Formats: sequence, C-alpha cells, structure tokens
Amino acid sequence: TASFNLVDPPQRNTIDVPVGGWAVIRFIADNPGPTLEVRDSDSLVIKVTNSARYNVTIHWHGVQQRGTPWADGPEYVTQCPIQPGGTYTYRFTIQNQDGTLWWHAHSKWLRATVFGALIIYPKLGTSYPFQTPKLEIPILLGEWWNKDPIDVLRQATFTGAGPAVSDAFTINGQPGDLYRCSSQDTVKFFVESGDIIHLRIINAALNQQLFFMVADHILTVVGADAAYTKPFTTRTLMLGPGQTTNVLLTADQTPGRYYMAARAYASAQNVPFDNTTASAVLEYISTPCKPNQGFPSMPMLPLLPAYNDTATVTAFLAKFRSPATSNVKVPAGIDENLFFIVGLGLVNCNPGPQCQGPNNTRFAASMNNVSFVFPTQASLLQAYYQGIPGVFTTDFPAVPPIEFDYTGNVSRALWQPIFGTKLYKVKYGAKVQIVLQDTAISTTEAHPVHLHGYQFYIVGQGFGNFDPTQDTANFNLIDPPNRNTVVVPVGGWAAIRFVADNPGVWLMHCHIDAHLTWGFAMAFIVENGAGEFQSIEPPPEDLPQC
Ligand code: C2O
Repeated sequence: TASFNLVDPPQRNTIDVPVGGWAVIRFIADNPGPTLEVRDSDSLVIKVTNSARYNVTIHWHGVQQRGTPWADGPEYVTQCPIQPGGTYTYRFTIQNQDGTLWWHAHSKWLRATVFGALIIYPKLGTSYPFQTPKLEIPILLGEWWNKDPIDVLRQATFTGAGPAVSDAFTINGQPGDLYRCSSQDTVKFFVESGDIIHLRIINAALNQQLFFMVADHILTVVGADAAYTKPFTTRTLMLGPGQTTNVLLTADQTPGRYYMAARAYASAQNVPFDNTTASAVLEYISTPCKPNQGFPSMPMLPLLPAYNDTATVTAFLAKFRSPATSNVKVPAGIDENLFFIVGLGLVNCNPGPQCQGPNNTRFAASMNNVSFVFPTQASLLQAYYQGIPGVFTTDFPAVPPIEFDYTGNVSRALWQPIFGTKLYKVKYGAKVQIVLQDTAISTTEAHPVHLHGYQFYIVGQGFGNFDPTQDTANFNLIDPPNRNTVVVPVGGWAAIRFVADNPGVWLMHCHIDAHLTWGFAMAFIVENGAGEFQSIEPPPEDLPQC
C-alpha cells in the first residue's frame, strides 16, 4: 500500500490482473452519489462539505425528521445554503420507516447530479414481511443534460419559456446501450436462475414521470416511499419524480439477457419531453455464450407503454394498498379541510429577456393562485423560530379564491396569481385533509406533489372536478396507501390525510423541478404541542447562515 501510485495512475475501465499476481483499483462512485444503507431506528450523522462552486443543501427525501426539522434540508425553508467550502452536519433518526428513500440536493436544479439512494432495512432483529431476497439492487432513474444544470435552469426561468428537454435518462448513472456509444458502460446486473431480487426503484428525474419495466419478468410490488404495501403483481411501474417503489423479481425466465428500461410518461398535451429510453441489462449467469444455443445475442426489450398512456398509470396507481389494517391510522375526523387548486399558466410580463413565452408572457405555477417566492434573507424555519419579521406571511388561502370549473375551459381572467411567501399554520395534532385539484389553466397535467416531514394517506383520487359529497363518500379509510409523494392525476384530483404531529416548517411542492421553480409550492407551519418532543429544538450551532 505504501508504494501505491496516488499521483498519476492510469485511468481505465478494464484491468488485466497479472498472472499469479494482483491489482488494486480505486474510483469515486459519484453519479449517482453514495448509497446509504441503514436500519429502521438508526441515528445518522452526516457531515456534508460543499466542494462545488454553487451553494447547496441536501434533503433526505421522505425522512420524517420528527424532532429534527433543522436537518430536513430544503434551501431557504429549513436552512440557508451551505456555501462553497462550507460544511453542515445533518443529524436525524429513522423512525418507523422501512423501504427505500433517497437524498438529493435541494438547491436550484443541482439534484440533476447530486443524489443517491437511502436504503432502510427492517429494525435489528426483525425481517421483511416477505421472503428474504437473495439480492438487493437500488435502481436510480435520473435525467441528464449535457449542459450545466444551472444553465438549464437559467434558460427555463430567466427567459420565462419552458425548460430545455433533457439529453438522456439514466439508470444508475448510465443511459444504456440504446444510446450511441453507450454500450460499454451499460449497467449490468447478474443473477442466477431462481434468485429472488429486491429492486428498489427511485425516480430521481428532474422533470419527467417515468415508466419502468423489465423484459419478460413480472414484478411484485411490496413497498413504496418507505412503507410496505399489500403485494400485487404488475408488468409496468410508473413513478413520479420523488417516488420510490420496491418490487420483487424472480429470475424464472430462460437464461439470457433482458433489458430493464425507463421512458417518460408525459401526461400534458403539446409539451415537449424527452422521448428517449434508458436501459440496463439483467443477465443470467448461466446465459449460453454463443447465440443460437437457444437464445438470441441481443437482450429482450420490454414493450413500454405509449408516452401518454394515462389508462395504464391510473390502473397501476389504483392497486396500491397499505398492508395490515391494524397498523393503518387514517384520521377519521378532520380539523383542517383544505382544498388546493394547482396548475401552470402564463402571466403577462414586460417585453424583455425574461419574457420569452408567447405574446409577452412567461410561465408561472401556483397553488390556490399563489405563486410561491422563496425568501433569501433567512430560512422560513429560522424566521418562525426566532420571530424574524418580514420573511413570510401566514395568509395562504385554505380554499381557492374563486370557484370555477377547474378542469373545463378556463379563461385566463380567472387565474392571475399573486406572488408571495404565504404559509399556512396548523395546530399541533390537527387532523388535516388536503384535496389537490389539477386545473386546465394552460394545459392539464399530472403532478407529483411531495410533502416534507410527513407520510400521508392517499384516501382518494379521480378525474374531473372533485365532488365533495360523492367523492368523499367513496374515500378509502380502511387501507389507503401511505406515501410522501402523490401523483395528482392529469385533469383530476387526489385527497390526502395526515395528523400534524411533527412541529416545524414543512414545504409542499410539485417534485417536477420546473414547476417548483415557477412557484408550485407552499409551506405549513406546524405549531408546538404541550408535551415532550412536541416542540422545535434550538437550531444546531453549525446551521449555515444566509
Ligand atoms: Cu425530494 Cu422538496 O423534495
């Protein structure tokens, strides 16, 4: 080891191990970033050093952060950014969560390259509620631009036009051999016939919902967003950005090579999207070496649904159920009955470089006609905790300012968002219901809406306008799925419930970064309770300052 060459060793992707000898290689697993493997109940201490040239924060997507709101990570919400050269130590505990989560930069569009898996195994001494798999494979679906993500963001926001379409999707950092010149680096997973494999799939893409399939193999869904589900089988998965899904796959096909592939589900009409397919290869170790020994030389490609196949998405999402009903604690009564309309649209602007939408407009997004503006002088949590005035207001509307036919032919006059940093305050322990209603303001579109600090129950979803009487009567209060990100159907609605028992300031937003940037966000203040662990602790000493 003392004689290792750490100065100018050769860089290769293949190494010849000398006959009767040895070789040592080193590499940085940088895209995606390191996988964190922990158990439920573990406490994590993660020191983040910013060696990039941009400000950055890290968010632990889906971790509830009970009692540790200062470790949540969204920039200007629970902390100011870590500046280049700076450090911040995130300290938190995993509490009653099993499955797959992930971590990502929560600053600008840096999560395009700064992300990784956070795998949570069952608590020490406990096991899965299903057969222990032979292999655990995290699958991170990413979205890649050849340009610096900050330039892509600038183009999307500062011109007021739509974002540039990405150059590729990736599976564990590689686009796969359906792209030119990519076959050498295609990600391969080797399995033996009969193996049961646990795939932990994460949609880390910035702006695209994704279908995922493995050729010829049936997938058994066993979990999503760090909660188990009642097992069900499917050939096709669909994940909104932010969502995770755990599936079991049995290697029960003819030994050979099979593609796993991901491609966009683009629900909106006339919106350009990345139409490429990312792939990786599942290879049976016993695959015959030569073609014609009963197997073709090319891997089998799965037949992915069409990019606009909403019927497949709807049928798939309708299958999710929480497992044992005894553990399901859906709030029955409601203290806070909230109705949020969400959507994208064009706002008028003064002709200029920031106004490149059609007819002197630029894109904006809103919730209840408020287009969210992030503060810059302090984080929201800091402002709330220390009582710094002028950073936010608490007048976020509980219902839309005007009622209209949300999914009908919407006139622009009904939708002129105001810009503001508006928060909504709820009491500790309040039972909250939120109906998220998509609108047809510029176009209808499915939106993956993520709530920080909580897992919620998805008690209902449907198309068209939400009907409070009829749709409420059909809510599933028995075994609804428990998630941290809900896909609001295109031209439809989704209803979620949770108990606000985690004090702090918690962002809720569309996990499509283009929409978040345009203002599709709001935040909740959950007030302190009276008992132990029911109030916000003082901030850690190394909390970055603005
Ligand atoms: Cu995964 Cu606010 O995000």
